[in-house]
Amino acid sequence: MMKILNIISSPIHEASASTKLGNAIVHKLQGKYPNSTVTVRNLTKQTLPHLEEIQMRSFFTADENRTPEQKEALKLSDEVVNEVMNADIIVINVPMYNFGISSTLKVWIDHLIRKDVTFKHSASGAQGMLNDKKVYLAISSGGIYSEGPRKHLDYTENYLRSVLDFIGITDVTVFRIEAQSKPDLKEEFAAKAMESISI
Ligand SMILES: Cc1cc2nc3c(=O)[nH]c(=O)nc-3n(C[C@H](O)[C@H](O)[C@H](O)COP(=O)(O)O)c2cc1C
Repeated sequence: MMKILNIISSPIHEASASTKLGNAIVHKLQGKYPNSTVTVRNLTKQTLPHLEEIQMRSFFTADENRTPEQKEALKLSDEVVNEVMNADIIVINVPMYNFGISSTLKVWIDHLIRKDVTFKHSASGAQGMLNDKKVYLAISSGGIYSEGPRKHLDYTENYLRSVLDFIGITDVTVFRIEAQSKPDLKEEFAAKAMESISI
C-alpha cells in the first residue's frame, strides 16, 4: 500500500492547470497502486505563516531545552514534516509565478527543511534525512520553458530539485503543463501534458 501526499499550491481550484496535472498524476498512481491512500495539503486553504523569531529560535534549540511556547510554535512545522515523513510518494503541484514557485509553496519548504529533523550536518557536509521517497512535480506555466529561448528562465524545477536533494529526496520526476497563457496553444499543451504522464 502506497501513501500518497498531494501538495496543492494554486489558489484557483478546478481552473488550475497544476491541480489538473497533479490530479492526473495521483489518478495514475492510484491505478498502479490500487490500495493507496491520498492525503491532500492545500496550501492556499491551510495557509502557513512565514517563519518568525520564535520558530527560528525553536528550530535551533534542542527539544529538551525548548520552552512550552517554542514547542507550540513548532506545531505547524511538525505537521508539515510528519506528513512528508509518512508519505511514500509526494505529488507537488507547482504553478510558476514570476519564473519561480509561489510564496505559499516556499513557506511550506521553509517549514519542512529543519536541522536534525529533515537534514543533519555530518563530517562530509549536510546530509538529507528523508530517503526512499518518490516525488512528482506537476509544473504549470503560462509560457514554454522545457525547451526554447526561455528555458534558462525557469527557476521552478532546478530550485525544487535542489531543496529536495538537500533533505535526501533524489528520485524526482517532472511533468509540465505549459503555454497556459497562450490561448492558441493552451489546449494542445494541456492534452500533451496529460498524455506525457508515465508512472
Ligand atoms: C502571479 C503570477 C505570476 C506568473 N508568472 C509567470 C511566469 O513568470 N512565467 C510564466 O510562464 N507564467 C507565469 N504565470 C502564469 C502561470 O504560470 C499559469 O497561469 C499557470 O497555469 C498557473 O498555474 P495554475 O493554473 O495551477 O494556477 C503567472 C501567473 C500568475 C498569477
